[in-house]
Amino acid sequence: MTKTKIITTGGAGYIGSHTAVALQEAGFEVVLIDNLSNSNEEVVHQIAKITGTTPRLEKVDLCKEQEAFACFQRHQDAMGVIHFAALKAVGESVAQPTRYYHNNLVSMLHVLEAMQKHNIPNLIFSSSATVYGQPDQLPVTENTPLQEAASPYGQTKQMNEVMIRDAVHAGEIPQAISLRYFNPVGAHDSALIGELPIGIPNNLMPFITQTAIGIRKELAVFGGDYDTPDGTALRDYIHVMDLAEAHVQALQFQLEGKQNEKYDIYNLGTGVGSTVLEVIHSFEKTSGRKLPYRIVDRRPGDVAMIYANVDKAAKSLGWRTQRDLDEMTRTAWKWEQYAREKMGS
Ligand code: NAD
Ligand code: WQD
Repeated sequence: MTKTKIITTGGAGYIGSHTAVALQEAGFEVVLIDNLSNSNEEVVHQIAKITGTTPRLEKVDLCKEQEAFACFQRHQDAMGVIHFAALKAVGESVAQPTRYYHNNLVSMLHVLEAMQKHNIPNLIFSSSATVYGQPDQLPVTENTPLQEAASPYGQTKQMNEVMIRDAVHAGEIPQAISLRYFNPVGAHDSALIGELPIGIPNNLMPFITQTAIGIRKELAVFGGDYDTPDGTALRDYIHVMDLAEAHVQALQFQLEGKQNEKYDIYNLGTGVGSTVLEVIHSFEKTSGRKLPYRIVDRRPGDVAMIYANVDKAAKSLGWRTQRDLDEMTRTAWKWEQYAREKMGS
């Protein structure tokens, strides 16, 4: 039987590669479109080791119109696109806003245009909890009003959502779903794929694992005076494989014609918040290592607390997270220990 083909843009990246595994395990044929600006070609072999199937990798920059359109033409038989490709470093986007707007908006435009041209009917988009800013009420639902984004990166996510919404409302794209990820962490249990941050990590989990392995001297905990249970900031960390499985379920929902709203939005988190100290304690428990850390000033732009209401994804998609914080720190650590050797970095 012919497999249903799905295009994943940014499919060689952190979340895309885990989703490629989940899609292949669910029986889909996966094509990765990636310019490898923040990923490594080696990932396709790692995916093959896990699933037994090597996904096709198209080395294409989605901002280059001819390249992008030619690639979509080669895969016009695809039934859906999952659009992960983006630049994602918040601080870098403040320093290089034009580069971020160019990459994240032009690539989105080309995806929408190519989907129209080739009648590819389903789109799933990687959005982010960053669109909520510091919300007035917690947990946040999909109807919580969006705040002015705190960074050009966040602006691109808000703008991308608007571009998709308008394209769907005008009938240019039959249907689309935006998935607002909270804080994705962890790695596939095989430790064959995971997050490979270039340079000094901005995010908490890779900074923790790099400190524990000795690449960083100590973790700076940004702020100990927040109005949270232990004074450190609180986030909704979600295991990347739970996130990957949510994409499969969202896609199946679309393909089975169950999507009532032509454009729909789902929060993807666990619904439970953890403080920075709770993450550190979980890491120390699962790794058996003491983590050197120091509480320092707050990081500018950080919100004190945010966590998701995930009732909508549970009710409509039938999706719930399966993995807890200990599983997130355990797999993040396992990946850190083997990653560099395996990925040749
Ligand atoms: P990632 O950097 O690991 O993956 C993104 C991939 O897109 C990379 O492989 C990169 O090479 C590719 N890419 C970027 N620009 C491209 C272009 N013009 N053409 C082709 N490929 C291009 O990041 P990730 O963590 O896997 O994030 C995936 C998506 O999820 C992004 O849209 C990101 O904004 C979003 N997101 C990530 C997080 C997070 O904390 N990781 C949270 C919320 C949302
Ligand atoms: C988590 C907590 C930090 C590093 C970012 C983006 C967001 C989304 C996910 C893409 C915070 C604290 C961190 C460190 C620390 N990405 N921390 N020491 O800021 O919640 O979200 O990634 O869409 O848009 O903003 O994630 O992992 O950077 O921080 O104390 O060295 O860890 O202050 O409370 P954040 P994070």
